[in-house]
Amino acid sequence: MIEITDIEKIYKMGGETVKALNKVSLSIQEGEYTSIMGPSGSGKSTLMNILGLLDRFDSGRYMLNGTDVSGLSDSELAKIRNKEIGFVFQSFNLMARMNVLENVMLPLVYGKVPYKERRERAIEALEKVGLGDRLEHLTNEISGGQKQRVAIARAIVNRPSVLMADEPTGNLDSKTTLDIMRIFQELNSEGTTIVMVTHEPEMAKYSKRIVHFRDGVIIKDEELTPELLPEREVE
Ligand SMILES: Nc1ncnc2c1ncn2[C@@H]1O[C@H](COP(=O)(O)OP(=O)(O)O)[C@@H](O)[C@H]1O
Ligand SMILES: [Mg+2]
Repeated sequence: MIEITDIEKIYKMGGETVKALNKVSLSIQEGEYTSIMGPSGSGKSTLMNILGLLDRFDSGRYMLNGTDVSGLSDSELAKIRNKEIGFVFQSFNLMARMNVLENVMLPLVYGKVPYKERRERAIEALEKVGLGDRLEHLTNEISGGQKQRVAIARAIVNRPSVLMADEPTGNLDSKTTLDIMRIFQELNSEGTTIVMVTHEPEMAKYSKRIVHFRDGVIIKDEELTPELLPEREVE
C-alpha cells in the first residue's frame, strides 16, 4: 500500500541545511496500525507530511497503492490525497463557522457527491466516533476531545485507504486520549489502515507496530501485540 525507498528531505534555512529525512525506506501494508515514534525534531512530521502528500521530498521514491507519486503535479496529488488519505492533525483544523455535520461533509463537496449522500455519509462517520447527537453544534461549542473526534470523522468520511494522524492527542487529556485510541482500534479492526505519530509509549502500545526514528533515520522497527481497549459503551 505504502512503499517509500531512500526518501530524503532537506530543509535549507539561511546558510544551514537540515537533513530531516536521510534515505528512509519503509513499507506499510493494508490493515496495519503503525506508530511512528522518536524524539522531537527527529523527522516524524516531515515523514507524515510526505506520506500524506502534503509535502514533497528531494530524492527517493514513493509508491502509493501502486502509483509512483514523485512525478505528479500538485492537482494530481490533491486528487489522490482526497481519495486515498485521511489526515488528522494535533490542532484539529476544523472550520469554526461551520457546525459539526458541515465540517464532516466538507471533503465530500470536493468529490462531487450529491447532497443527500454527503449528509448520510457524514452522519454515519460521526456515529462511528460517537458524535451522532452533536450534528448541529458549532465546533467552538464542543470540547477538545469532541473536536478531535469530528476531525477523525472528517478524515474517514471519504473512506480513504489510509488514516494518518500526527500527534492526534497532543492537545488532549489522558481520558480523552483513550477515547481516541479506542476509536483508532475500532477503525483498524474494521479494516482501516492507520499510521500515527506519537511520542508517548502509552499510546503506541495500542498499535500493532512501532517504527522508531532518530535524526532522520529509522533505528528500530518492532512488531507488537497491541494492548486491546474495551469497546465503547453505547452513549
Ligand atoms: N519547514 C521547515 N523549515 C526548516 N526546517 C524544518 C522545517 N520543518 C522541519 N524542519 C526541521 O527538520 C527536522 C525534523 O522536523 P520534524 O519533522 O518537524 O520533527 P518531529 O515531528 O519529529 O518533531 C528538525 O530539525 C526541524 O527543525
Ligand atoms: Mg512533529
